[in-house]
Amino acid sequence: MSQKEPTLTTSAGNPIADNQNSLSAGPRGPLLMQDYQLLEKLAHQNRERIPERTVHAKGSAAYGKLTITHDITEYSKAAIFGEIGKETECFLRFSTVAGERGAADAERDVRGFALKFYTEQGNWDLVGNNTPVFFVRDPYKFPDFIHTQKRHPRTNLRNMTAAWDFWSLSPESLHQVTILMSDRGLPRGYRHVNGYGSHTYSFINANDERFWVKFHFKTLQGIETLSNEEAARIVSEDRESSQRDLYESIERGDFPKWRFCVQIMPEKEAETYRWNPFDLTKVWSHSDYPLIDVGILELNRNPQNYFAEVEQSSFSPSNIVPGIGFSPDKMLQARIFSYADSHRYRVGTHYEMIPVNRPKAAKVNHYHADGPMRFDAPQGTDAYYEPNSFGGPVQDESFAEPPLRISGDADRYNHRDGNDDYTQAGELFRLMSDDQKEQLFYNIAGSMEGVPESIIQRQLGHFDQADPDYGAGVRRALEEGNDGAKPVEA
Ligand code: HEM
Repeated sequence: MSQKEPTLTTSAGNPIADNQNSLSAGPRGPLLMQDYQLLEKLAHQNRERIPERTVHAKGSAAYGKLTITHDITEYSKAAIFGEIGKETECFLRFSTVAGERGAADAERDVRGFALKFYTEQGNWDLVGNNTPVFFVRDPYKFPDFIHTQKRHPRTNLRNMTAAWDFWSLSPESLHQVTILMSDRGLPRGYRHVNGYGSHTYSFINANDERFWVKFHFKTLQGIETLSNEEAARIVSEDRESSQRDLYESIERGDFPKWRFCVQIMPEKEAETYRWNPFDLTKVWSHSDYPLIDVGILELNRNPQNYFAEVEQSSFSPSNIVPGIGFSPDKMLQARIFSYADSHRYRVGTHYEMIPVNRPKAAKVNHYHADGPMRFDAPQGTDAYYEPNSFGGPVQDESFAEPPLRISGDADRYNHRDGNDDYTQAGELFRLMSDDQKEQLFYNIAGSMEGVPESIIQRQLGHFDQADPDYGAGVRRALEEGNDGAKPVEA
């Protein structure tokens, strides 16, 4: 064997003389306990997996950059928007929600659109989806909803009865269910989806004025979707169709791009707007709050190691930068807790020091100490607590947000009281072309196969309230006994 290659070693760096044959007493064995090389190899294999994400387990990601094309400094002082032409490195992970780590890509599901911007003020994570709304508006219901999307505990099968039971008992889901069951619910690939921050966040400008903001990423590749039949065909040939499409397009230099826009609502208008702007099941009409261009997002570099960079990537809505803040949206508030908690369990205490998660353009200074696998401990400092007299990092009050006025008694408020769950779902339905409506009817009917009649009837009542034609169309598709595979015009 040529000696140009580096010598194989144990993880402690000890050279290995034979990587083919285990150490045995005689050619027939048994093996010797002292074959540490074999023991190390087997022990490492047993530790190759980490828990998959509890949701969004199957995903694909790439690095890229955000280039600012328009000045929005009147709304936000965040450094990332500092000047036209400014470029910030980012990492974008797409995903499906319900499937496990080995699920097929071409499945009807919401797509995750999780962004990490490596800004000079630390990382800004915008962990969104390809839909502007969500299934529930109170985080108390999120684990219940996810249980209906995962496998039945007894049969270990996916279970549409659970999904329709939950949705029909949760009318706030209707808007998102309408998107999921429409053509948009089955994208051709990740390059062909829009991204949405979905929640309302806040912007704060240099004068300490607050605005409410929604984030939009419009695909410049165009929206492309699959019929159920096309998807079934693709899955039978290629379970990684979206991963392959994204990876190969970047490798051949065909870099996918998105137009980055915001909708802006002045702080005071939240009190009088006809929709609660902190309700994640609602959109803001574009005629009320038009899209404002911000920049272009481009993906241009594939990760070198899927596990290290994609599987260990850890996004959290709690990662924000000065000039961008939270909002009272209850769902967002819960997510501020949930993600970092998940990462500490799934990846480990120091997950933020892993290269893909580590801030690249900002220095990290904190007093957190020790814990498993601490490998970035400060060297030789006396400033290991705060306050101290030894030059350790200190707070900077110039980053304080202006106070946010909150009112109300602490209580468990019924999130369904007085809420209109039908108007926006009906408006979306009426925006669809006849062909899109037909796809919606047949996708719904197909997915209701085997679901008990009482649940179907309850859900039909919701479709009727959104638009009588919506309910009638689904009834017709159900009567035709279609299996959800109605051919659609190409
Ligand atoms: C992943 C919780 C709602 C988008 C996750 C993970 C958790 C979680 C625990 C796995 C994190 C990990 O281990 O890496 C929640 C809770 C929610 C919620 C508690 C509501 C209360 C949402 C909403 C969106 C969203 C509304 C989109 C607007 C995502 C995405 C990922 C994810 C894109 C995958 C991130 C990645 O690529 O690593 N969520 N989620 N989630 N969630 Fe949520």
